[in-house]
Amino acid sequence: MSHSAIQTIMNHRSIRKFKDKKLTEEQIQTIVEAAQMASTSSYVMAYTIIGVTDERIKEKLAAISGQTYVQNNGHLFVFCGDLHRTEQLGSQEDREQMQQSLASPEQFIVMTVDAALASQNAAIAAEDLGLGICYLGSLRNDVYQVSELLQLPERVVPLFGMAVGYPDHEPEQKPRLPIDVIYHENHYQPFEHQLPFIKDFDKKLHSYYEKRKQNNRNDNWSKQMIRKFSTPTRMDVGTFLHEKNINNQAD
Ligand SMILES: Cc1cc2nc3c(=O)[nH]c(=O)nc-3n(C[C@H](O)[C@H](O)[C@H](O)COP(=O)(O)O)c2cc1C
Repeated sequence: MSHSAIQTIMNHRSIRKFKDKKLTEEQIQTIVEAAQMASTSSYVMAYTIIGVTDERIKEKLAAISGQTYVQNNGHLFVFCGDLHRTEQLGSQEDREQMQQSLASPEQFIVMTVDAALASQNAAIAAEDLGLGICYLGSLRNDVYQVSELLQLPERVVPLFGMAVGYPDHEPEQKPRLPIDVIYHENHYQPFEHQLPFIKDFDKKLHSYYEKRKQNNRNDNWSKQMIRKFSTPTRMDVGTFLHEKNINNQAD
């Protein structure tokens, strides 16, 4: 990497407006190869990355997500959890033997963690190349349609997308929770110990949102979280996973 990795990581902010310039094949390959070098549970590599270049598919994905930058970017990646490949390796008999494990919540965690680690390596590689990124959980607004558009077989599920490209805005960095809230020594710190730090953070975030140039508002982190979790979203994801024979442990 050209910069120090830490410098690149600490400079992160999500980019939601990109210049009208595509990534080169070389850039795409560097990003994917970096993704592949992430650690992977038991060497399973339980993920597949789909680069979407077909504008018609991108348009449909953008409609699902409701976000223009799903279409307007330098390249669009979709990170999928994948246990299909692993299953297909076996004979009919092997596959029957593998069913219980492949459908277990444990293996769902494995595919999700593997995909997340790979994607974050991709993000850092892209940012190190001077590009910007935005993760896109919004693709899960309609997991069924995304799966159909990308022709995902059984045991392959779309987890999230990532738009990559040349930044066309310079958003301010979004503050993070104080380190005392996130990092605990030896044992879990009770919530009461975390609360004063969270209150400080809420004040900080309130002024961040008030001062922010774009989309400024009267809000803080606690209010945001309570609002978010008060409205269940994407409740069809559980059924979708079951139908894909993932996270589908028999009782
Ligand atoms: C798995 C995942 C899914 C996300 N989905 C979206 C999304 O659909 N749309 C979006 O604009 N940002 C999305 N984000 C970006 C977050 O909103 C962003 O990382 C967070 O607000 C912190 O801001 P920052 O990345 O600029 O520091 C997603 C991030 C992650 C990790």
